[in-house]
Amino acid sequence: MSVAHAVRVQGLTKHFGDHAALQDFSLEVPVGQLVALVGESGSGKSTLLRHLNGLHRPTAGAVEVLGTDVGSAKGAALRSLRRRIGFVFQQFHLVGRSTCLENVLSGSLGRLKGPRPGVIGYPIAERRDALAQLERVGLADRAFQRADTLSGGQQQRVAIARALMQRPNLMLADEPVASLDPETSKQVMDVLLRCCLELNLTVLCSLHQVEMALGWCQRVVGLRDGRLVLDAAASDLRESDLRDFYSDTETRKRKADPTRTPVPAAAITAR
Ligand SMILES: Nc1ncnc2c1ncn2[C@@H]1O[C@H](COP(=O)(O)OP(=O)(O)O)[C@@H](O)[C@H]1O
Ligand SMILES: [Mg+2]
Repeated sequence: MSVAHAVRVQGLTKHFGDHAALQDFSLEVPVGQLVALVGESGSGKSTLLRHLNGLHRPTAGAVEVLGTDVGSAKGAALRSLRRRIGFVFQQFHLVGRSTCLENVLSGSLGRLKGPRPGVIGYPIAERRDALAQLERVGLADRAFQRADTLSGGQQQRVAIARALMQRPNLMLADEPVASLDPETSKQVMDVLLRCCLELNLTVLCSLHQVEMALGWCQRVVGLRDGRLVLDAAASDLRESDLRDFYSDTETRKRKADPTRTPVPAAAITAR
């Protein structure tokens, strides 16, 4: 089914006990858009992402993803929706002792039956596909290397390749570069952008770095205390517009490294 919007959230409220993690939150994301979710720690970014693949149920409001009402989807319908949604995390969750190729292949398990011992247990078409996904993330030459021997940035790219094996229509990335250095972060963001452009994949990505949000994403959505407080094209924003959303993080980083200066807007290349 083709839908104009990959994500449609209307009036989403989520309470954890007395605490409102999301409050009357609405957002529509057209197919093929790369969206940055920004906001201080605790603002509700992960809670939003977890609603999109049905890990949380709304207290109130509607969540529609890829044409499915996630709030009411159960059983086979929910499993089928989840197969179309790739999820990557700050921690890569790879099997360290397995090769990169085996890790990527495991992304196809949702559509294959039975356990698949080693690479040889997968149909040849899947093995070819897994290699193609490793190629897409620039790591085809690491296919037979143990995952835990790769750098953090490379492991995150393997995790993205594994998610791509699901043949997803939507990719959710929860702080995918939070534990990476700036150079490897850029490589991971390049891969997410390439997925968006080459596969017309919709990507929602929570980010703690101003320069990543402005430099790589088309649209920036800001949360504060569970509410939507910013929704703008990245090309219309400057670094100073986002400072509030990152004040806690920047302050913490500057305390740790007093020589640190915020990224100047001029250094940000709009894409
Ligand atoms: N499972 C949960 N149970 C109780 N409170 C939660 C749960 N998940 C998140 N919260 C609370 O909801 C708020 C938003 O959290 P979260 O979505 O993780 O924020 P972010 O990802 O922006 O840091 C926080 O106050 C957090 O403590
Ligand atoms: Mg979070």
